[in-house]
Amino acid sequence: MASQRITPYGGVLKDLIARDAGIRDQLAAEAETLPKIQLTDRQLCDLELIMNGGFSPLSGFFTKEMYDGVVENMRLPDGTLWPIPIYLDVDAEKFNLENDSARQFSTLVAGSRVTLVNPKDNVNLAILTVADTYKTDFNNEALKVYGTTDDLHPAVKYLFTSTNAINVGGEIQAINQVSHQDFIEIRLTPAQTRAHFIENDTDRVVAFQTRNPMHRAHLELTVRAGKKVDAKIFVQPVVGMTKPGDIDYVTRVKVYKMIMEHYDPKDSAFLSLLPLAMRMGGPKEAILHAIIRRNYGATHLIVGRDHAGPGSDKQGNLFYGPYEAQELAAKYESELGITIVPFSMLTYLPEEDRYEEIEKITPGTKTLNISGTELRRRLVTGEEIPNWFSFDNVVAVLREGQRLASEKSN
Ligand code: ADX
Repeated sequence: MASQRITPYGGVLKDLIARDAGIRDQLAAEAETLPKIQLTDRQLCDLELIMNGGFSPLSGFFTKEMYDGVVENMRLPDGTLWPIPIYLDVDAEKFNLENDSARQFSTLVAGSRVTLVNPKDNVNLAILTVADTYKTDFNNEALKVYGTTDDLHPAVKYLFTSTNAINVGGEIQAINQVSHQDFIEIRLTPAQTRAHFIENDTDRVVAFQTRNPMHRAHLELTVRAGKKVDAKIFVQPVVGMTKPGDIDYVTRVKVYKMIMEHYDPKDSAFLSLLPLAMRMGGPKEAILHAIIRRNYGATHLIVGRDHAGPGSDKQGNLFYGPYEAQELAAKYESELGITIVPFSMLTYLPEEDRYEEIEKITPGTKTLNISGTELRRRLVTGEEIPNWFSFDNVVAVLREGQRLASEKSN
């Protein structure tokens, strides 16, 4: 049975939403009486994945022990591999946490309970039981987790400009799922995607991570991966937070739906969205992506060129080498419980009208590429975007997205 074959890759899934309506009602009533923390956009994404099992085995926000283990050694206290800290930073002044003498009067002492609130609709999402509160060192975190303190790195910038230096750690009891207004039918939880794969007797699933619109190269990459490992293609784009300046997710989802029409047979690929807040952490983020996709029931993950890459530093050098992400993910493959499917840069050969991996191309062969920056430039200027690069209907959607975005900013 598919379910038996798929379980070894999945591990135990923590789905923290209480099944019992009575318990949920009790928690909901208690939540009303507790101090409240309005989550930031990033914390909201993190909590959604903690609650639905996408971040399994996490069952709460990092305590100091977890934070130190992951920042220093990429390990949770029980030795489990985990690459990037997932924490709840809070306004120290508001909660009386600014110094040790004030801290004992805080509403966030160990053992106290606090309600986590969705800032978008004011819904009480979960109760956190405080295990500890602790100060963090931004420089150390930036260096150890992202390998740099250069604030051209989006996660480093976020750390230095949008993060509080005190975290509250503790386990979560979930009350309500994070609700969404759009694309509900393709926002599946890990339990739902696993169930889908089992129902369709699909025991091999290759996931594709993306934060960009998909063009011909991405279609080719995923089709190749599907054939290479004989697996169903699971297109799982990120719609939480991506790199600042990226194309908005509403435009991208329209594109993904169009791309799905090109798979042959159509049911060789499956689309569902991921509410992740990306850190653009390159190699470490690839490990996080692997853990998440394993939790969603994938058996394989595509990691191509410059996976989750944050771009270049102030000296103009790439923060991470283009293949560092696939190398690090492959190194930890056996612990991750998911197989990495690496690709080198896929590029277009105009003389043969096809795509090929760069390492398989005879030196001197003519190649063509359009970078993300160049694409954005052409969208702004209205210059031609050739058909070898992208499908006409995809380009039309991107141009419309561009038009709406520039209308908004004017
Ligand atoms: S990412 O930040 O989500 O990694 P993007 O959406 O551009 O960015 O890439 C999604 C995945 O496709 C990554 O694994 C990336 O390495 C891979 N990829 C994108 N374009 C290419 C390409 N031309 N050749 C090889 N791999 C690619």
